[in-house]
Amino acid sequence: MLFIYVLFTLFQFSVQLENTNIIYVIISQNNYYSQQISNTLKQTLYEDYRSLGLNKPKIYVSKEDFNVPGDWTLTPLISPILNITQPLTEWIILLEERTQISVELLLNTLRQYDFTKDIWIGHALHDKEATIVHHFAFYENPTFFKYPNIGSGIALSIPLLKKLESYLKQGLSKQLDFHIDPSHEFAHLIYNMRNDLMLRHDNSFCCKKGPNCATYPRKFKPCGCVDVSTIFFAIKTCKRFHENRVTVVKNTWYNYAKHKMFFSDVEDSNIPTVSLNVANTEQGHCQKTMEILKYTLKEFQKNPLLKWLALIDDDTILSVSRIANVTTCYNNDSQPFILGERYRFGIQGFDYPTGGAGILFNVPALQILASKCTCPRPDSPDDMVVGICALELGIELVYIPQMHQARPDDYAFGRLATNDAVTFHKHWMNDPQRVYEKWFLADDSMLPLEPDVKLEL
Ligand SMILES: *[C@@H]1O[C@H](CO)[C@@H](O)[C@H](O)[C@H]1NC(C)=O
Ligand SMILES: *[C@@H]1O[C@H](CO)[C@@H](O)[C@H](O)[C@H]1NC(C)=O
Ligand SMILES: *[C@@H]1O[C@H](CO)[C@@H](O)[C@H](O)[C@H]1NC(C)=O
Repeated sequence: MLFIYVLFTLFQFSVQLENTNIIYVIISQNNYYSQQISNTLKQTLYEDYRSLGLNKPKIYVSKEDFNVPGDWTLTPLISPILNITQPLTEWIILLEERTQISVELLLNTLRQYDFTKDIWIGHALHDKEATIVHHFAFYENPTFFKYPNIGSGIALSIPLLKKLESYLKQGLSKQLDFHIDPSHEFAHLIYNMRNDLMLRHDNSFCCKKGPNCATYPRKFKPCGCVDVSTIFFAIKTCKRFHENRVTVVKNTWYNYAKHKMFFSDVEDSNIPTVSLNVANTEQGHCQKTMEILKYTLKEFQKNPLLKWLALIDDDTILSVSRIANVTTCYNNDSQPFILGERYRFGIQGFDYPTGGAGILFNVPALQILASKCTCPRPDSPDDMVVGICALELGIELVYIPQMHQARPDDYAFGRLATNDAVTFHKHWMNDPQRVYEKWFLADDSMLPLEPDVKLEL
C-alpha cells in the first residue's frame, strides 16, 4: 500500500514539474471579439490543466502582455518572449486566437522531442506551385520548403529562439519590407539562418478538427444574428472589364447581395454602372476609392439599416453569406473597424488591408475615411493609403484569416482546410465560376435571390 502511495506521489510530482515548462503565447488583436476568444482559449487551457491535476500554465496574450507593433509577423515577438522565459522553460507554444488545444495530447507529443535542441514543430504546409503570396520562393521545387500552419499552433525550443534572436541582432538577416504570410516568412528566416532546421511536421498538429489532434484551428462561428441586408457591396470595375469580369460577378455572388453597385469610369446602363468621373488609372485607384467611399456614405445616410460597406474588386470571388457571418463579430456602432486580409509594408511599417481580398468598413470607419483620408496622388495604391489613414485616424484594422488576396491554388491545402474561406481573388489560370461553385455556392444558395438593382437616374 505504502509502495503504491509512494509511486503515486512520485508520479504526481513528475507531472507537477512538467507543466511549468511550457509557455503559451496567443497572437491576439485589439478588439472585443479577439479579447473574448483569446480569453476563452486561456480559460479552456487553465481548465484542461486543472482537470489533469497540473499547475496553472503561463499564458501570454500578445496585445495585452507585449504590445509590440507588427507582432503578427512573429519576429518582433522573439525578444519579448525570451524575456519572460524561465530557467526551466522547455517550449514556447505560439497560437492564434482560434487555435484549439488538447493539453494531454500536446504534452504527449512534446515528450517525444528533445527541447534542448534547435527544433520547431507544427503542421507543415508546402506550396503546390510557386505562388505570389510567397514571393515565388523555391519556384524550382515548391514542395521542398516546409512552413507551419499558424492556426495549428507552433512549438519552438528555447535554444532555437535564442539563436534566432542573436541572428537578428547581428543584422545577418535581410530585413523584410513587405509582409504577406508570416508563417512562410518566419520559416524562411530560420532556413536562411540554418538550412537544416526545417519545421518538423507532427500529425497531432492538425489543420482541422479530427481525432487525436493535439491542436487545430477552429472553424469560424458567427457571433449573432446574420443579416445580409446590412451590407452594401461596392464593386470597382472599369470599361475594359465590363464584359468578362462583370459577367462573372453577375453569374455568381452578386445575385445574393441585397445592396450592390458597380463603380466604373464609364456609365453603362446595361450593367448598370455608376461613373464618378475619376479618370481610370492603370494602378493605384486611390482617387476612385475615396470617391466611392464618399458616394456610398450618402447611401448609408439614406438607409440607416446599412452597417457595412464591402469594397470589392471586379475579380474578387466571395461568399455573401460568409461575409455577413463574419461581420456579426464586429458589430459595435461606436468603434471604427476595417476588416480584411492584413499585409504590412515598410521596415518601421504599417498594416493595410490588401484590396483584392475585399475590404469591409463599418459606418464609423466609413465616416472617418470619407471626411479625413486623402490621396497623396490619384493613382496611389488605395489599400495602402487606407492602411496609413487607419493608423493615423485611429481605425482598428482587423485581420480576417478567411479573406484571401490570391486564388485557392495559391494556398496550401492545409491552410484552407477549415473550409470557412470568405473571399478569394483573381481570374487567372482558373475558372472563377467554378471557384465560386466549389467554395461558396452551397452557403450562398441558402439566401434568397435578390433582384437586380434599378438605378434611379
Ligand atoms: C523584460 O521584462 C521586464 C519585466 O518583466 C520589462 O520591464 C522589460 O521591459 C522587458 N524587456 C523586453 C525587451 O521586453
Ligand atoms: C452563418 O450563420 C448562420 C446563423 O448562425 C448559420 O446558420 C450559417 O450556417 C452560417 N453560414 C456560414 C456560411 O457560416
Ligand atoms: C464598443 O466600442 C466602444 C468604443 O470603442 C468600447 O468602449 C466598447 O467597449 C465596445 N463594446 C464592445 C462590446 O465591444
